[in-house]
Amino acid sequence: MKLDRESKDLSGPDQQTAHFGYRQVSAAVKGKLVHQHFDTVARKYDLMNTLLSCGLHHLWKRAAVRMMELKPGMRVLDVCGGTADLALRAARIMGDTGSVVVYDINWAMMAAGWPKVAGSVLAPRIGYIQGDAERLSCPDASFDAAMVGFGIRNLTRPEVGFKEMFRVLKPGGTMMCLEFSKPKTAWFRRLYDFYSFYVMPVIGRIMVGSGDAYTYLPESIRMFSQPEELSAVLTGIGFTRVRYRRLTDGIAVIYLGVKP
Ligand SMILES: C[S@@+](CC[C@H](N)C(=O)[O-])C[C@H]1O[C@@H](n2cnc3c(N)ncnc32)[C@H](O)[C@@H]1O
Repeated sequence: MKLDRESKDLSGPDQQTAHFGYRQVSAAVKGKLVHQHFDTVARKYDLMNTLLSCGLHHLWKRAAVRMMELKPGMRVLDVCGGTADLALRAARIMGDTGSVVVYDINWAMMAAGWPKVAGSVLAPRIGYIQGDAERLSCPDASFDAAMVGFGIRNLTRPEVGFKEMFRVLKPGGTMMCLEFSKPKTAWFRRLYDFYSFYVMPVIGRIMVGSGDAYTYLPESIRMFSQPEELSAVLTGIGFTRVRYRRLTDGIAVIYLGVKP
C-alpha cells in the first residue's frame, strides 16, 4: 500500500512519482519542492505553528511524547526533527543520562530551532544529524525510541521512512508518529477545510510572504493516509501493538508501535 495514495511506483527510482500537495510530480522534484518549502517557512516556523494551531501543537506534542513512556537514560531519534520541539520535550523527561538526536534534511529548519536548544540546560543532551529520513545514517538497533512529528507526510516515500525507523530501533523500542489528519465530525471538517484553504494561506502571505507555502500544508494533509490505513502500513512493516489516538477530533493523530 502507498501512503501517498496515488503515488506510482514505476520501474526505477527516477520514474517514481509522488504528490506535492495536489500536484503529482517526480520523486526528485518533490524532494526539491519540500526543501524549498521549509527554506521559506523556517525562520517563522515555530511562530506560525503556534499561530495557525492557536497553540494546540504544544498540547499535541506534549501528549505524544508522554505516550512514548520514555525512561531516564534512553537514546531517542527525532526524525524530521526540524526546530527540535519534540527533542526538547523528550530530553526533559530522560534526565542527564538520556540523549536525543534531531535528524533533519533541512539546515535552515534546524538552525531556526538552535537558539531554543542552545538557551536550554538540555542542550548537551541534544545532538544533530543533517540527512534524509529515507536513508538514516544510523546503525541498526541503535535507538531505544524513535519519533517523527508532522514530518512523515513530507517524505517522498513515507513507508521507507517508517522502515528506516524500524531498522534503527532496538527490539522492544517504541516508534511514535504525530501527524495531521482529517477531523471526524462532518461540520467540524467543513469548518476546518474553510480555515485551512482560505484563512491559512492569507496568514501565510502576511507572515512569511508566501500563501503557496500554506496551501501545500492543507493539500498534503488531505492527500495523506487516514489512521486505519497508516496503522495497517505500520503493522505490515513489522511493528506490533500498533495503536492510534485522535486529538482535537482528528486534526492530529498520535500513532504508536513497538519493534518486536
Ligand atoms: C513540518 S516540519 C516538523 C518539524 C518538527 N518535527 C515539529 O514537529 O515541529 C517537517 C520537517 O521534516 C523535514 N523533512 C522533510 N523531508 C525530509 C527528509 N526527506 N528527511 C529528513 N527530514 C525531512 C523538514 O525539513 C522539516 O524540518
